[in-house]
Amino acid sequence: AFYILIFPLSFRLTCYYYRLSYYRAFFWDPPACAVSEPRPRRKYTGEMRFPFILQNLHRFSFYAAAVFVVILSWDTIVSLFHSDGFHLGVGTIVLGINAVLIGLYTFSCHAWRHLMGGGTDCYSCEVMGKTRFGIWKQITYLNERHSWYAWLSLFSVALADAYVWLLSAGVITDFRFF
Ligand code: FES
Repeated sequence: AFYILIFPLSFRLTCYYYRLSYYRAFFWDPPACAVSEPRPRRKYTGEMRFPFILQNLHRFSFYAAAVFVVILSWDTIVSLFHSDGFHLGVGTIVLGINAVLIGLYTFSCHAWRHLMGGGTDCYSCEVMGKTRFGIWKQITYLNERHSWYAWLSLFSVALADAYVWLLSAGVITDFRFF
């Protein structure tokens, strides 16, 4: 829980999509397009000063979030193997859906898109430029749906955590398909 708090939470808090939502909803910064802000600013520093300069950690928290996708995928695979053999239960499906949605959320990130396709003005002038352009286009497809993945993965994480907690507390037992 402690690691989750540091890494995936910092990834979500600094996410460009969530920033857009909470800057508008809570700071009225701005409330909406063409709607002026509630009070005139003395000095606008954007994300250049503390605390909002910490938003720039997003690209670094991406690396940690990518590791968590591997951990969640591994958890899903491990959940198939039990002391009495190989079984598929509801728990594996819940963990699997969560791993996929977290993966889609992570790899549709703007920082990942920039990492794979940014920093160049000419793909055809680069070594492997065509391949890079192809990867960038695939990531762009995911990136256009980033807000969906942000919400869906938020709910799937809560559902997976609740399901595992109920199982481990003995409140429910996992239904097995085979
Ligand atoms: Fe949302 Fe990076 S922009 S996770």
